[in-house]
Amino acid sequence: MSAKKLIAGNWKMNGSLAANQTLVQALLAGIGQPTCDVALCAPFVYLPQLQALLADTSTVELGAQDLSQHDSGAYTGDVSGAMLRDFGVRYAIVGHSERRQYQGETDVQVAIKAKRALAAGLTPIVCVGETLREREEGMTEFIVKRQLSAVIHLNGHCISEIVVAYEPVWAIGTGKTATPDEAQAVHAVLRAQLKAATEHADRVRILYGGSMNAANAAELLAQPDIDGGLIGGASLKAPDFLKIIAAAR
Ligand code: G3H
Repeated sequence: MSAKKLIAGNWKMNGSLAANQTLVQALLAGIGQPTCDVALCAPFVYLPQLQALLADTSTVELGAQDLSQHDSGAYTGDVSGAMLRDFGVRYAIVGHSERRQYQGETDVQVAIKAKRALAAGLTPIVCVGETLREREEGMTEFIVKRQLSAVIHLNGHCISEIVVAYEPVWAIGTGKTATPDEAQAVHAVLRAQLKAATEHADRVRILYGGSMNAANAAELLAQPDIDGGLIGGASLKAPDFLKIIAAAR
C-alpha cells in the first residue's frame, strides 16, 4: 500500500470556462487540508485556465487526459509532454479505455506514451481494464496483465514512478461498480506483477476507476491495494468529489 492516496478527477470532454471556474472555486472553498493528493485532469484547452485558478494552492494538482507519443514535429493535433509541463501539468492519463476504444490505441502506443510522459517529467496514470465480455469469459487477469506488461517492458526500472488505474470498462459511467472484493482481487494481481518488476512496487499507487462515487468510495478505498480513485462523473460535482476526497485517508 502506498503512503498517500491519490484522488484524480477525469473531466473527460466536459466543461466550459464558466462551469470550470464555478467548479474549481467550490472545490477550493471546501477542500481544506486533504490527507490525500488531489488532481484534476481537464481537457487540453482548459489547462491554462486551471493553472491560473490553482496558482495560489498546492492542494490540487493539474493533469491532462492524454499526451502525444512523439516529442515534437509534424503531428497535427498532438500535444507533447513538454508542452504540458509548460502549463504546470503534473499527471497525464494514458491508455484510458475510451481512447483504446475510440482512437484504437494499442498497448504499445500506451507504453510509449507512458515513456514520453516520464521523460517529460510527468507522472503517467496508466489505465488498464477488461470489458464485460472479457470478464464473463474469465479473461480479466490476462487482459490487465497484458496491458500493464507492455508498459513495464518499455519503461524498465522507471515503472516505480508511474500510477496505475484499474478501470473495468463495464463499470465506467454505467453506475455499476466493481465490488470492493472484485476490485481488490484485480489490484492484488497488478501489485504482484509490479513486485516482480521492481523492488519499489509498494510505492506505485493503483487507483480504482469506474462509477466511484460519494456513497461507495470509503469501502473501495479501504481495500489494502486500492491507493486512490480515478473519478469521472462524480468529479464534475463539487460536493460529491469533496466527499470522495474526504474518504481517502
Ligand atoms: O477516468 C474515469 C473513469 O472512466 C471512470 O468514470 O467515474 O464516470 O465511471 P466514471
